[in-house]
Amino acid sequence: MREMQSAQEPWKSSELDLPRPAQCPKIVRLAHQADLVKEFADSVCRGLARRPAALECRFLYDARGSALYDRITKQPEYYPTRTEAAILARYAPTIRRIAGAVTLLELGSGSSTKTGHLLRAWEDNVCYVPVDISESALCQAGRTIGARHPGVRIVGLNGTYEKIFPLFAPFSPLMVIFLGSTIGNFTEEEAAVFFRSISENLTEGGYFLLGVDLVKDADVLEAAYNDAAGVTAEFTRNLFARMNRELGSALDLAAIEHVARWRPESRRIEIHARFHKPQILRVAPRGESFRIAAGEEILVEISRKFVLRELQDELKMCGLQTREVFTDERGWFALLLLQKMGGSFRLS
Ligand code: AVJ
Repeated sequence: MREMQSAQEPWKSSELDLPRPAQCPKIVRLAHQADLVKEFADSVCRGLARRPAALECRFLYDARGSALYDRITKQPEYYPTRTEAAILARYAPTIRRIAGAVTLLELGSGSSTKTGHLLRAWEDNVCYVPVDISESALCQAGRTIGARHPGVRIVGLNGTYEKIFPLFAPFSPLMVIFLGSTIGNFTEEEAAVFFRSISENLTEGGYFLLGVDLVKDADVLEAAYNDAAGVTAEFTRNLFARMNRELGSALDLAAIEHVARWRPESRRIEIHARFHKPQILRVAPRGESFRIAAGEEILVEISRKFVLRELQDELKMCGLQTREVFTDERGWFALLLLQKMGGSFRLS
């Protein structure tokens, strides 16, 4: 008889070559480094050929970008991280009570700082699977969590979200965690595809914990993306610094300005890089070059903000039912605890 996989011991799965607990924290790489540079080059060329030019924000998170994002979360104007952390700290025991014994699989775990609150609620007796595209962030997270929560079994997965979906079943029973309003980086269409994939890959009754930033005053929103210390500007500029490092782009970084605006009609922050002088952006691995005009703006990131009711309706259409909504006193940020519905639900 095939051995049962328990939530505590997903590495027993016969299909997966996962590390044993003694070796944890351990990182399983789901993509090769060489592929990443090629992916970056392809993505930059696609983005620059588009009108208006728009780059994929996932490439913001190389080692330096992840470190800069970490600094952003500590800026006084950037309220999302500390607001979400406070909600997590307060409601982790409630979440634990509802979800019970599950493996915690966190998408885009970054530095995993906030996750500590959840792990504590499980009294550290839990398996934690952080998933991130930044290997350096994963490594750092594994070390921190490992030191603070010695009872937690950690298996880090280095790769993109799509590669993770097939692993939901062997890790079940599961709670997929997607914090920080990272979903705000997705367009509406991308978010719909993503929610559907989460839903389709979760087993019935599986949980999804989603952190979302809510629509609020324009001043508060714009300040959060224009911190006085200029860390967010440096984060934006780092995408182009990364092009210089990895793609031989030879850009003058000093000529790039960070521009972040709130677009109330599309309920999103748009972050652009504005070029003050004409430049040639080389993408050496593909032997392509792009002319950038003086004053041209390239979209590097969107950060959508949400209205709870609408979001819940959308999730429900994807088969994800709201079990509980947790929020802060100001109603600035929300944590949704969702559950994969059984039976049939509307598919489109
Ligand atoms: C990591 C996507 C949640 O949109 O607030 C912060 C990224 N960019 N400041 C966000 C970000 C500039 C952040 N997320």
